[in-house]
Amino acid sequence: MATIVPHPPTRRSPVDTLDFVRVTEAAALAASRWMGRGERNIADGAAVEEMRDALNEMDIAGRIVIGEGERDEAPMLFIGEELGGGGFAVDIAVDPVEGTNLVANGLPNSIAVMAIAERGGLLHAPDSYMQKLAVGPKAAAYVHIDASVKDNLEAVANALERPINDVTVVILDRERHADLIRECREAGARIKLISDGDVDAAIATCIESTGIQVSMGTGGAPEGVLAAAALKCLGGGFMGRLQPRSAEEGERAKAMGFGDLNRILTLDDLASGDNIVFVATGITDGDLVRGVRFTGNQARTHSILIHSSTGTVRFIESVHRLGARPNRRRA
Ligand code: FBP
Repeated sequence: MATIVPHPPTRRSPVDTLDFVRVTEAAALAASRWMGRGERNIADGAAVEEMRDALNEMDIAGRIVIGEGERDEAPMLFIGEELGGGGFAVDIAVDPVEGTNLVANGLPNSIAVMAIAERGGLLHAPDSYMQKLAVGPKAAAYVHIDASVKDNLEAVANALERPINDVTVVILDRERHADLIRECREAGARIKLISDGDVDAAIATCIESTGIQVSMGTGGAPEGVLAAAALKCLGGGFMGRLQPRSAEEGERAKAMGFGDLNRILTLDDLASGDNIVFVATGITDGDLVRGVRFTGNQARTHSILIHSSTGTVRFIESVHRLGARPNRRRA
């Protein structure tokens, strides 16, 4: 007689993860009102306020570990701020508007984004830069941040069984990436230069339909933690290394416990929790999710929700009735 082997139990978050989607939806809706209006700080401020209100309505004991900055430079969602009505203790990394210039200029790929883990499950990254390398699950075991650009691109091409010129790399369009761009070109890869938004780019490497296989270069360290949280849920590969922009930034990182600034930060260093939830809602249209659309008295949002314990990726389209506060649980 056949033995029925039960599935191993998955560790679910004790919090309804759909509540987290409501948080990024609220932020995206608020920021999207400012699309193309040249006001990056106002767009960010509107998203921050909505995100904070929505988090405060949740039954969690939340603590911001990646936020808008230290208490003295950020009135809300500052690092260390405690949020929620009480309950399960979680650490939260937020970026209410990832790509503030993208929103201000009406350009693609801006998202409202958040990662949640049990206490201690997300790295407290300094507000510095980070060198990053992100690839999807099939290539994860074959790349390394210290390998040459050519070797990494060859490894990705081999893992995906395609020629290098069918591999697309996303790179932030910055002067500091001139050599990286040249090396990718010499290796024969396709390049997509982006003006901002490397969290979206890193996640896109794990979603086949985006046509993006690699994201490389140096960007914000807090954004590195958010990207790592998502890639951990998706089984992708991510490596980072802090790149302080000044001696002072280096000292600050050391004071935060980064004794060796050259240390490679793996997925498990950046997102060590084993029960991570990642959620993002599009503000403007992007590779990953569509932006907010207003139609009559409704607004449509498009979000991605991922849970590390199952790896399930949910794309959620919501229709919000405008006028009330329909995106809120207790509205
Ligand atoms: P903001 O949302 O804070 O504007 O960040 C956008 C971003 O492009 C990130 O995606 C990226 O990691 C970082 O800025 C790069 O920093 P810089 O613009 O200084 O090169």
